[in-house]
Amino acid sequence: MSAEEAKKSHAVLVEEIRRHDHAYYVLSEPSISDPDYDRLYRELLDLEETHPELLTADSPSQRVGGKAVSEFLSHRHKMPMMSLDNTYSFDELAAFLQRVEKRLPEAELDWTIEPKIDGLAVSLRYENGGLVVGATRGDGASGDDITGNLKTIRSLPLRLAAKSPAVLEVRGEVFMSRAGFTKLNEKRKVDGEEPFANPRNAAAGSLKMLDPKLVAERPLGVVLYGLGEVSGELPATQIDVLDWLDQFGFPTTGQIWTGRTHDDLVASINELDAARHDLDYETDGAVIKLNNLSLREQCGATSKAPRWAIAYKYAAEQAETVLKAITVQVGRTGALTPVAELEPVLIAGSTVARATLHNEGEIQRKDIRVGDTVVIEKAGEIIPAVVRVVTEKRPKKSAVFVLGKECPECKSLAAKDEADVVWRCPNPDCPAQVRGRLEHFCARGAMDIEGGGEVLVRQLVGSGLALNVGELYKVAQAEVAGLERMAEKSAQNFLGGLEASKQRDLWRLIFGLGILHVGTGVAKALGRRFANLDELMDASEEELVAIDDVGEVIAKSVHFWFGDPQNRQLIEVLRKAGLNFESSIVISGEAAGPLAGKALVLTGTLLNLKRHEAVARIEAAGGKVVGSVSKKTDYVVAGEAAGSKLAKAEKMSVPVIDESELLRLCGK
Ligand code: IVH
Repeated sequence: MSAEEAKKSHAVLVEEIRRHDHAYYVLSEPSISDPDYDRLYRELLDLEETHPELLTADSPSQRVGGKAVSEFLSHRHKMPMMSLDNTYSFDELAAFLQRVEKRLPEAELDWTIEPKIDGLAVSLRYENGGLVVGATRGDGASGDDITGNLKTIRSLPLRLAAKSPAVLEVRGEVFMSRAGFTKLNEKRKVDGEEPFANPRNAAAGSLKMLDPKLVAERPLGVVLYGLGEVSGELPATQIDVLDWLDQFGFPTTGQIWTGRTHDDLVASINELDAARHDLDYETDGAVIKLNNLSLREQCGATSKAPRWAIAYKYAAEQAETVLKAITVQVGRTGALTPVAELEPVLIAGSTVARATLHNEGEIQRKDIRVGDTVVIEKAGEIIPAVVRVVTEKRPKKSAVFVLGKECPECKSLAAKDEADVVWRCPNPDCPAQVRGRLEHFCARGAMDIEGGGEVLVRQLVGSGLALNVGELYKVAQAEVAGLERMAEKSAQNFLGGLEASKQRDLWRLIFGLGILHVGTGVAKALGRRFANLDELMDASEEELVAIDDVGEVIAKSVHFWFGDPQNRQLIEVLRKAGLNFESSIVISGEAAGPLAGKALVLTGTLLNLKRHEAVARIEAAGGKVVGSVSKKTDYVVAGEAAGSKLAKAEKMSVPVIDESELLRLCGK
């Protein structure tokens, strides 16, 4: 066979296999018998062996071709991967519709309703029709490059079926099929491995594996529902987006509803609820999206989620089981939390053996007693909770539960907090509190230290190696490796995780310190206001209260924390260890930039900037983009073919500016 002929037959084989894969994995309509398929595949392998120059990354032979890696590279998303706001009732849904209508008073709105897949969000980038990179959502700004793992998912095209834009980023959800999950867990039990709690965890665990060959054995699927970066024209509506995705050969959600009114949406959400249990994947809600893509742009987004979409979460599932015992857990702030130890029960796809009982008052109100049959509720990721007691099933002899008034860990006498709800262990050196603080510091949302989970922290504290977060940075590899059941490799990972954490942004450190009332939102607000930790440490209560998102209680708490000499000492230890104290999200200069407090309306096509770029510039300068012109509008930025908004601006004497004027105002 000449080189030219080989190239041709390779292309034909690749295309044929791609078609059969699509028919089998995406359409569930096999178009060839198994032996015939195997023959084609064999032919491809043979051809690639004799002509290795023909082997391309998107050949079907490369699905399991990825090499095992020691860690994933980080992938920065060109466009952020957002999350969705949730609603739990039709009233909340109505409020959402009103909010959007208010933003788009002149538009006629129609909506799509599609299943909310309970999997892992991924972004896939195709260039000139071939898959180049696939990544997890991560923190929304950047995730892990898991291309090798994603390629093993047979329903995912490596090369697109139809002519596509030069750059096409698609977004969707990886899941494990229900049937695949059950089978996998059975096998794991036989092999003496811990079964997965639910399909979502199983899918997450699979995508985290470093060897694509192992991932290929996991029954993973993918569904695509949206777009990231795309070169050229975008489709006009969500319906068109899904059509597009179908044409390129992607698996999509299949059934989708459309509607205009609240009643339409309620009907569709209920229909989806009835249909969703027959789907191959788990769903925990319906996603309601504005159909029209240009209206979406006008609606905009908050820092976390688009304003044009919302998730409607279906009610939690319930199950009955027996309460075997009530134990008490001590948190990092010393709070004593009673925990229900249950007869394990399957609910919403996972086995539940423990549930929080919140506090003593809650137990008294519901009169929960050991030995009772109780109703447990669980929805998606939400922590399972005890809803009520089935009193008819109460054993004859049962006693009212009384919470012990001493810390189960260090035996200190507990005291009630100011609000008189929670009992607290007052001993800051209580090992449970020490562990809680270290775990919190290492957690994903805080300093994100690999390997710094519950098990390792327990050992570090138990052995006295680290009793505060400063001491974490002093432990040596040999010491960690010397801990019980600690492999050399895990010790190394943890040390690597510690090293990496030294570069984390300031807000993560602030959050990780575990200051009372400082969650991630407040930590970020502080990171935006102060350029570095020293500025924050020296801030007065007045300066702190002046920050948006910081109230008096928080300001007091922060000021108090940094005033404590022991905490100051801890900060110096962290400084010596080389931790980053600088904030990358600080809004410099005037607390909020040249357009601080200004509201702008964009209309028409700008000369150079895309709409989203203009929005980004305005927001970076402290301004806000709003949908419609009113007396409160400070500027209307008008481009080519500006329409009614321009007229309205002129009528209301709102200043109208062009792109270059906008850039000047933004200080660029
Ligand atoms: S759209 C910018 N559609 O739910 C809007 N998300 O809780 C992005 N999800 O991060 C999401 N099914 O991972 C969309 N049909 C669907 C979805 C869906 C599941 C996930 C997605 C998102 C999360 C938010």
